Amino acid sequence: MNATMNASTIVITGASSGIGRALALELASRGHTLGLTARRLPLLKTLRAEIQAAHGTRVEIAALDVSDTDQVAPRLGKLFATLGGADVVVVNAGINAMTQVGKGTLAQELQILQTNVAGAIATVHAAAAHFIERGQGHVVGISSIAALQGVPKQAAYCASKAAFAMYLDCARMELGRKGIAVSNIRPGYISTDLVDGVDIGKLPFAVSAEKGACEMADLIEKRVPDAVVPAWPWKLMRPALGHIPTRFL
Ligand SMILES: NC(=O)c1ccc[n+]([C@@H]2O[C@H](COP(=O)([O-])OP(=O)(O)OC[C@H]3O[C@@H](n4cnc5c(N)ncnc54)[C@H](OP(=O)(O)O)[C@@H]3O)[C@@H](O)[C@H]2O)c1
Repeated sequence: MNATMNASTIVITGASSGIGRALALELASRGHTLGLTARRLPLLKTLRAEIQAAHGTRVEIAALDVSDTDQVAPRLGKLFATLGGADVVVVNAGINAMTQVGKGTLAQELQILQTNVAGAIATVHAAAAHFIERGQGHVVGISSIAALQGVPKQAAYCASKAAFAMYLDCARMELGRKGIAVSNIRPGYISTDLVDGVDIGKLPFAVSAEKGACEMADLIEKRVPDAVVPAWPWKLMRPALGHIPTRFL
């Protein structure tokens, strides 16, 4: 565990696979208590058993579809109460798909916005309300480098991540005055099943979910306000993002 953080209670949305799952395993190995949510409860049950066998740390799970924004506050509120309070909420649940402007993918694009923007904002609200009551806490949003650089066939996804990234920046200004930290973690390419039919592991500078999760856990423990993951090479390349000529994309 990082010297700047004692064992905490950390809630992660979208913990059934990919980054959320790897982050849960990494944070459990560092001694943190976890509250894990996603739609696929059987996967969360398997993960809970794996964590308890490997690390013996406490894990509570709850089914939650963040795109149904009315259920986010009550379900998370119940999980916070079961855990005896949460110190950190990682707003990670998200979806992506290859879409094409004007080619019949509107429904898919609206679902991306509903999950990645409306669902994520509803999660931040629920976390912030809990933290305001406790007088402390840490909201961690998983946005993307897609918030900084548009890509063809990713219009809705890039728009969703840009919206969420800006939301986090504004939330940091509001909540900082109340002693609540807000982090915006922007992954580059992390090898997961995020996009059907796309092997993210083959994209430039891709890292495994385990490596990404290890860097993210360090950033969370240090309460870094804004960071790209993996730091190398995205930290170096960050100023160029948003300025890459279309012919290279
Ligand atoms: N992989 C990358 O290269 C990359 C890069 C930048 C940003 N990100 C972001 O990282 C986050 C995690 O993605 P990932 O790569 O780990 O993909 P993933 O393996 O597909 O994981 C997505 C997670 O989100 C959950 N989820 C999806 N829709 C949900 C909903 N409506 N309600 C609740 N949970 C939902 C899924 O669980 P259920 O299906 O069980 O609900 C799953 O646990 C996303 O926000 C993604 O945009 C990923």
